[in-house]
Amino acid sequence: MRKIITIAQPIIGKEEIEAVVGVLKSGILTSSRGDGPYAKKFEESFAKYVGVKYAVAMSSGTAALHAALLAAELSPDSEVIVPSFTFTATASAVVLAGAKPVFVDIDPKTFNMDPVCFEEAITSKTQAVIPVHMYGLMANMEEIVRIAKENDLEVIEDAAHSVGAELKGKKAGSFGDYGCFSFYASKNLTTGEGGIVTTNRRENMEALCSIRAHGFGRHQSSEILGHNYRMSELACAIGYYQLLKLPKFLEARRRNAAKLTSLLEGSARLELPEEPEGYKHAWHLYTIRLRGSRAGERNKIVNKLVNAGIQAEVFYSTPLHLAPFYRRKFGFRPRSLPRTETAARQVFSLPVHPELSDEDLRYMAQRLTRIVR
Ligand SMILES: Cc1ncc(COP(=O)(O)O)c(C=O)c1O
Repeated sequence: MRKIITIAQPIIGKEEIEAVVGVLKSGILTSSRGDGPYAKKFEESFAKYVGVKYAVAMSSGTAALHAALLAAELSPDSEVIVPSFTFTATASAVVLAGAKPVFVDIDPKTFNMDPVCFEEAITSKTQAVIPVHMYGLMANMEEIVRIAKENDLEVIEDAAHSVGAELKGKKAGSFGDYGCFSFYASKNLTTGEGGIVTTNRRENMEALCSIRAHGFGRHQSSEILGHNYRMSELACAIGYYQLLKLPKFLEARRRNAAKLTSLLEGSARLELPEEPEGYKHAWHLYTIRLRGSRAGERNKIVNKLVNAGIQAEVFYSTPLHLAPFYRRKFGFRPRSLPRTETAARQVFSLPVHPELSDEDLRYMAQRLTRIVR
């Protein structure tokens, strides 16, 4: 029997294993401020990699987003503009921070927040915007940052999919006031669970360090309201060695994506992902739009791929403004974000992770071409 081609595959080598064993033997498994030796090493090297002054390790990408929103000190009835075409954490972090998410539509080509829609959604209550860099491709940060600055808004990048992505040579996480990353097991760089926030401002970094450790300041007493959002030393050790390997991982993803594109190019039904001029895709997922399809047809194709041992998946079939919680709480309605709703019916993702062989890529392309013919 053919092995299953998984949508994601953590790549853990002897360096990570030895580092974890070293941490276990050292007895320093974590620290009360989340600033143990591996946390510091990982944060320093991550900040350097992204090209920012600071990085603050967190227990997850969701914690990273929530901590950044708390550090931004939003007022209670404020609004935060987010795409609806994203993972639920982008918006749940906003609600957890006491603000209202305002959903905006996407650019149908890149699946990222449309800057025009962002600008149109700004009100006197808007205090922040969270562009998401979907699937590994950065949002149009030049426009988004320009509009945000003109309107005095905080910019919090959701770079959970996009460690290593670039726009004009600058990395994801270096454009906004905060950049939030996830190291969940499916991500391009993984620590099992984990996250990090990048920033160039010292006061932001200090607020983030406090928020991740119960709001403690110089003393062990809460100066502000905080959480336990620390990343363990075990996870930071894995992250440190994963980061050293990231350039190689990204190269392999790029090669796999190019190969899939060359194999699928001839199929008229498939709109393949592209890398616009000036952008460097991190190829977290290879996301295809099935031209003109309804959700039912797309789902059938995904099921056929799964039955053929290819773990294709849909990210994301329910736009957040149509998820039960957001409809109930904020009264969002269908047909309010047409490009998002169409994309949610038509997209599906294939893997391009570094563990795929040329044979896997050929098999996926061959199967998919046959199924959509
Ligand atoms: C776009 C996006 N934002 C945020 C998150 C949250 O990250 P985590 O699962 O590490 O909490 C994810 C996780 O998949 C994500 O895809």
